[in-house]
Amino acid sequence: MTRKDDKKAAFIAALAAALDAKTFIKLTLGKFRGEGEPSKAVATLVALKGVPHLKLVTRLARKDDTKTFSINDGINHIKLRIGDTYLSATLFSTDRDVTLTYSKKREPQLTSIKPTLKASEPAAHDRVKSYLVPPDRPYLKALQVSDAEGRIKPTMQGKYRQICRFIEIFDGLLKDIDQSDADEPLSILDIGSGKGYLTFALYDHLTTTLGRTCVMTGIEVRGDLVKLCNELARALHFSGLAFEAAEAQQRRTTHTDIVIALHACDTATDDAMALGIAADAQMILAAPCCQHELAPQIKDTSEGFAGVIKYPLFKQRQADLVTDAARALLLEASGYKVKVIEFVSTEHTAKNILIAATKSANVNSDRAKRQYRELKRAMGFETHHLASQLKGVE
Ligand SMILES: C[S@@+](CC[C@H](N)C(=O)[O-])C[C@H]1O[C@@H](n2cnc3c(N)ncnc32)[C@H](O)[C@@H]1O
Repeated sequence: MTRKDDKKAAFIAALAAALDAKTFIKLTLGKFRGEGEPSKAVATLVALKGVPHLKLVTRLARKDDTKTFSINDGINHIKLRIGDTYLSATLFSTDRDVTLTYSKKREPQLTSIKPTLKASEPAAHDRVKSYLVPPDRPYLKALQVSDAEGRIKPTMQGKYRQICRFIEIFDGLLKDIDQSDADEPLSILDIGSGKGYLTFALYDHLTTTLGRTCVMTGIEVRGDLVKLCNELARALHFSGLAFEAAEAQQRRTTHTDIVIALHACDTATDDAMALGIAADAQMILAAPCCQHELAPQIKDTSEGFAGVIKYPLFKQRQADLVTDAARALLLEASGYKVKVIEFVSTEHTAKNILIAATKSANVNSDRAKRQYRELKRAMGFETHHLASQLKGVE
């Protein structure tokens, strides 16, 4: 081994040690001397299915290229590029910053200084959740959630928290669905995609962080939003993402892996669920918005509820709850395991329920059908928009 190689080996050893000791914060690569478009790159830690991985984001002029590696593969990948594609590398850890630079004659110089990132900052492995949605992602800038420097705008903090929470929940559920075809593109329909905040976030997360291929379609009645989102998807080179102007109820598909409907208005949530059930989706995720269908129907409930429904506000709240409980039961009746999760804190919105359904062979569908009929009888409603689209539940 030459003296040159010694310095590079020492740098790589410092990287491996920092990862091992969990003191690693990030690694940057600069002084590009490779072929093609000049770039810089930054490696950070991410958790995939709870296992730490190295994510390498290569920043090009028009877009970022993201690759995720196991720790060993990541170290090897970085090792190959140092002194070749990049003539400068800096390791930031909570212990020290180590820099390896090469002169024009490719003479390496290794320096180590006190850590420049605050020691009080939590180590990277404790910050894994926020790494799921880095605030400087290009789509967040394009959607005006973050500014040009990649900082979340003060007025968009709530939206950013919602995006982070959604991605965190989604990641947890993804492992519940059948992964036998993990090499096949995931097909996803997003009903009522609106301005696309969560659509872009999910597409970006699946393709860049998780490295999945994905065919995703946003369905939205408003043509102006569809146009805007399609333009943005093109600008970001999100080739598997497109938006369609359509009514949820009119949209049909023979197969989709996942259906999401986040705050889609009123019975559009039921249409999304019916679409997912008919297409045998492995996962259906819905955050109901406004529920207008049941309140006018609830006149005579079973004994004991008169004291609740005589107050209009309580009656509406009760109707909201019953609408969503009926949805959960109808999903179970259709062969889905259902979780009802608090989406974001009620501090930000009252519409904070997420109904998460994953296809399962171990669901007692008959019991759920029975419970749905009992609920209908007890609350005195005649029709439910989801039930009317399903066979054999009434
Ligand atoms: C409150 S926004 C939610 C947007 C996005 N899903 C989010 O959570 O950020 C609801 C969107 O659903 C759309 N929408 C309502 N009813 C619909 C229907 N039946 N079919 C398709 N889109 C619908 C609305 O136009 C609106 O853009």
